[in-house]
Amino acid sequence: MEKMKVLVAEDVAEAGIRVLQQELDVDVKMGLPREELLKIIDQYDALVVRSVVKVNEELLSKATRLKVVGRAGNGIDNIDIAAATRHGVIVANTPDSNTISACEHTIGLLISSCRNIPLANNTLKSGVFQRSRFNGTELYGKTIGIVGLGRIGSMVAVRMRAFGMKVIAYDPYISDERFKRFGAEKMETLNDLVARADVITVHTPKTEETFGMIGEEQFKIAKKGVRVVNCARGGIINEAALEKALAEGIVASAAIDVFTKEPLHEHPLFAFDNVVVTPHLGASTVEAQNRVGINIAEQVINALKGEVVPNAVNLPTLIDDELVILKPYIHLAEKLGKLYFQLEKAPVEQVEMTYSGELADKEVRMLTLAFLKGLLEPVLQERVNYVNAHLVAENRGIKVFEDTEERMAKGYANVVMAKIKTAKGNLIIAGTVSPNGEPRLIELYGYETDVCLTEYMLIVENIDRPGVIGSFATILGEENVNIAAMQVGRRAKGQTALMTLSVDNEVSEKALSKLRTVTGILSAKFVRL
Ligand code: NAI
Ligand code: 3PG
Repeated sequence: MEKMKVLVAEDVAEAGIRVLQQELDVDVKMGLPREELLKIIDQYDALVVRSVVKVNEELLSKATRLKVVGRAGNGIDNIDIAAATRHGVIVANTPDSNTISACEHTIGLLISSCRNIPLANNTLKSGVFQRSRFNGTELYGKTIGIVGLGRIGSMVAVRMRAFGMKVIAYDPYISDERFKRFGAEKMETLNDLVARADVITVHTPKTEETFGMIGEEQFKIAKKGVRVVNCARGGIINEAALEKALAEGIVASAAIDVFTKEPLHEHPLFAFDNVVVTPHLGASTVEAQNRVGINIAEQVINALKGEVVPNAVNLPTLIDDELVILKPYIHLAEKLGKLYFQLEKAPVEQVEMTYSGELADKEVRMLTLAFLKGLLEPVLQERVNYVNAHLVAENRGIKVFEDTEERMAKGYANVVMAKIKTAKGNLIIAGTVSPNGEPRLIELYGYETDVCLTEYMLIVENIDRPGVIGSFATILGEENVNIAAMQVGRRAKGQTALMTLSVDNEVSEKALSKLRTVTGILSAKFVRL
């Protein structure tokens, strides 16, 4: 079978490329002009980028085969996640793989700027042995203000405490416990931090709220002689305000790894001797790039195989243990969803999912997505997958609700139940996973049953009287359809019953018509799951 194709559009470690090559047809084309990239992107099932290539609506609308974008790194501000979701494209990143490198680069930048290392280096190499000009400052005993106490911010906190610095931090989105854990004094407002810090370092993502959060107002209240570091995203420290504060002597030094516009070749900040700059090198170490490359390659392969992608940013996050538990339920939910339009034609107005028993405390959103994918994928032209299933349902006016209950339902340890509302009434479809991992149907059309959901199934309503099942089975035999398993559930003796049969092969329209002529058979439908 032809291998799927991946385009690696930015510099990714050889170790990652080798992992991709084990399973995929890999093209490495770095620094492609945009028009060229837009021209060829429809040939690829996967795209791997870092922070430069813009993955936006323009690109995604041309990427007709694309199933996954792997961001070999952390920040995803170069990727339009909403657009990717609309197009059903999984976006995955490697948030933990380069944090140590980014933290160490932050500290490297800070020390370089406090001790004038780059300038002294250049001066000496130009043959001038000057010392007094490069008198620096110690970090010991000073206060560092960390904005954003996430993965990198917290690592900076721990390391700077070892330098004997007092650590204060501002992050309104984390618990008090996290401040305590990293030995940081919690600041209630950003300005409280700014007013007290000798060094300010930012470690937030770039969002509407954080872009420019250290600006003119902050430099007005900052201590004279404050030092600033930005190794997060360009513009979190407003570049024009920083330039002004440097010129006014408010800021003693600045160390900047990231810029509002990248790549760049000139910038007003380059004119200052007390500004240290690097070209977005936070993650550029051998170790980080190997980790990032291998990690993203594995996730891209998983995504293309339809397996769960641990760091997919537009899917619910599943921790490893949970993933193992939920996998058979994801499979079950998708099969339950696939049943509906093969049995009924009434447009769906609402889907109510209820998860009972062992499932109640799990990340059940993933199961709802799987049910919606199963429901909508077979009947829609557009691509429907776990990423966009909810959005596609919403766009079609289907309301989706989700509920969990800890008690067992119907005597099963775990139950996935979908109540489908249509203008014609409600239909409940329920299933469970047996201890050996099999997906089983346990309720349909108000009948109880217990049959394994296999690839080929017959769903038959009949009158509960002797001879009906026998005649039905005889015709199946004549049509060369072998029954693998069968269950009959009835409401009450002599009334109607539901036969659910797992069969070994497809049942033709001709055979179905014949089956429907059997006296006592009310309906007979073949479904493929
Ligand atoms: P993270 O998501 O682990 O932590 C970010 C923290 O910022 C969170 O705790 C969050 O609550 C906090 N935050 C969000 N909005 C805030 C606000 N308005 N005020 C204060 N705090 C706020 O992110 P991580 O992994 O620590 O990365 C931090 C930054 O570093 C990101 O921008 C990332 O893209 C960047 N980065 C840069 C690298 C480089 O090469 N220079 C390398 C790796 C990451
Ligand atoms: C990140 O967000 O991971 C860093 O900014 C690194 O970006 P890069 O992969 O372009 O070096």
